Amino acid sequence: MVLPKSLTISLVFFSVFVLLINNGVEAFHKKFPHLQSISVLSVTAVHRTGYHFQPPKHWINGPMYYNGYYHLFYQYNPKGSVWGNIVWAHSVSKDMINWEGLEHALYPSKPFDKFGCWSGSATVVPGKGPIILYTGIVDEKQSQVQCYAVPEDPKDPLLRKWVKPDKMNPILIADKGVNGSAFRDPTTAWWSKDGHWRILVGSRRKRRGMAYLYRSKDFMNWVLAKHPIHSKAGTGMWECPDFFPVPVNGSHGLDLDHDHDRDHVKYVLKNSLDMTRFDYYTLGTYFQNKDRYVPDNTSEDGWGGLRYDYGNFYASKSFFDPSKNRRILWGWANESDTKEDDVRKGWAGIQAIPRTVWLDSTGKQLLLWPLEELNSLRGEEVSLNNQKLNMGDHIEVKGITAAQADVEVSFSFSSLDKAEAYDPNWVNAQELCAQKGSELQGGIGPFGLLTLASQNLEEFTPVFFRIFKGPNKHVVLLCSDAKSSSINSHLYKPSFAGFVDVDLANNKKLSLRSLIDHSVVESFGEGGKTNILSRVYPTLAVTNQAHLFVFNNGTEPITVENLKAWSMNSADIK
Ligand SMILES: *[C@@H]1O[C@H](CO)[C@@H](O)[C@H](O)[C@H]1NC(C)=O
Ligand SMILES: *[C@@H]1O[C@H](CO)[C@@H](O)[C@H](O)[C@H]1NC(C)=O
Ligand SMILES: *[C@@H]1O[C@H](CO)[C@@H](O)[C@H](O)[C@H]1NC(C)=O
Ligand SMILES: *[C@@H]1O[C@H](CO)[C@@H](O)[C@H](O)[C@H]1NC(C)=O
Ligand SMILES: *[C@@H]1O[C@H](CO)[C@@H](O)[C@H](O)[C@H]1NC(C)=O
Repeated sequence: MVLPKSLTISLVFFSVFVLLINNGVEAFHKKFPHLQSISVLSVTAVHRTGYHFQPPKHWINGPMYYNGYYHLFYQYNPKGSVWGNIVWAHSVSKDMINWEGLEHALYPSKPFDKFGCWSGSATVVPGKGPIILYTGIVDEKQSQVQCYAVPEDPKDPLLRKWVKPDKMNPILIADKGVNGSAFRDPTTAWWSKDGHWRILVGSRRKRRGMAYLYRSKDFMNWVLAKHPIHSKAGTGMWECPDFFPVPVNGSHGLDLDHDHDRDHVKYVLKNSLDMTRFDYYTLGTYFQNKDRYVPDNTSEDGWGGLRYDYGNFYASKSFFDPSKNRRILWGWANESDTKEDDVRKGWAGIQAIPRTVWLDSTGKQLLLWPLEELNSLRGEEVSLNNQKLNMGDHIEVKGITAAQADVEVSFSFSSLDKAEAYDPNWVNAQELCAQKGSELQGGIGPFGLLTLASQNLEEFTPVFFRIFKGPNKHVVLLCSDAKSSSINSHLYKPSFAGFVDVDLANNKKLSLRSLIDHSVVESFGEGGKTNILSRVYPTLAVTNQAHLFVFNNGTEPITVENLKAWSMNSADIK
């Protein structure tokens, strides 16, 4: 395998931290010194995933990028299964499904990163090769600087060894007015015809979250722009900012490294909001001459805004994949059990299945869909067609390994008359899902899938729609409810949910895809409009004791127009 001749590929990479909330305002890197270096003797297999990326043991969070091979760099604790001792681990793949682990790319070794090598990104600089920018921790107080590393041998397609030159390192220290305790996660750099490279660095000033913009002509000397590219009061620290263009027409991806015509692209700015640990994005316009990004008036900034995923999905990062001309998003999902469980299991954290990202035809939101290479793991297939579901019905989908499966289904109904009234105060989808659940019978819905279910439904994770009649249009709720997922009571079992922006008046149909993998259910509503990842830990519905059902608990009969489900083979992850 040789390096591509044209080195215009942006290497992306990013980070994640275990940040817990203190008083709902302040976040910090919570440490568990008594747990963070307990080595693993045995790895518990029952909830380990079969086709989601996990290292063989210990803590993981944060991924990725590409270069002839796809490279995944991720934050990793080589000594234990809770956060701590963070290094950059490194895996390579040819299809983003099967992976081979290499030696760690970066670990603390210099005065500028003695206390940690946190997140960052990689950029391929023409004539120079790949350069990693990352956040170095210089002291016990977690003071942050940006550092760089280069491959020892840029001709090695696996980029196995990385060096941190003493010259010019650290490459960026917090300017006057920049908070050096909240200054991290440099983005992939992009180059413009004005001769400058640009990067963003996540930060905050008091409670105002922001992404600072820096410019450089030579990639080594960086100058802070007068204004952040964007900021928003009250949102707290912005971690892992991600900034990229999407075409207005078409589902292909675009590289950052072009001066795009404003009429043909929209820009996406994503921030991982430390205070709630979810990834929010806006769509908008990038005014390069002023180095300002302005969200569209249909795209709300902050907590009322759009999310890539309404479940457990954080610190994601995207990259442009030139080999298939697409933009791919990687996100990290932590565990929902306890730190002590993680020590006992011997591992913590998975990567979500990489998702292709493009703009919805409304121009108001993105669509996300599992990358096509995942289909190569599909095995045994079963299907169900024109199956009617009356209120209270649940029908088993037999013949597949329900603990490790991929399901695609479309539902239809003939009338909207029975929809329950929508109370305009219901703005929080998660609260609404918690209140109604799958148990409370409705008009149209709840209907959907019961995943990771035990035979007699002592345990199940329902993924379902519920339709309400709003003042102007119908309101569609998608839930992935962990409430009944396990008879084990000490787990975190959120009723994750999001609204789905869809017009049902002309088309009384809804579609759903769920990727089920032992302790994760990753669902995509209406072709990737609203997506939810849940972590669940059944005790009965495990391995060949797990079942899959379709169900309806609403008075309006529902038809399963078409359902296809596949047993999924395990990926080869070494
Ligand atoms: C700087 O960041 C630290 C860590 O997030 C925070 O505790 C402190 O309040 C911040 N200071 C200002 C002025 O924002
Ligand atoms: C997008 O495509 C549609 C239909 O092909 C066309 O009418 C429209 O002008 C295109 N818009 C842009 C911005 O290219
Ligand atoms: C939002 O912006 C569009 C143009 O970008 C404009 O036509 C529309 O009037 C604006 N709407 C509001 C409510 O400001
Ligand atoms: C995982 O993240 C959630 C918030 O998204 C948090 O409540 C939980 O404590 C985290 N779990 C672990 C094991 O870190
Ligand atoms: C359907 O509704 C009934 C009655 O409320 C409830 O007992 C049952 O658990 C519900 N089914 C599911 C899958 O939640």
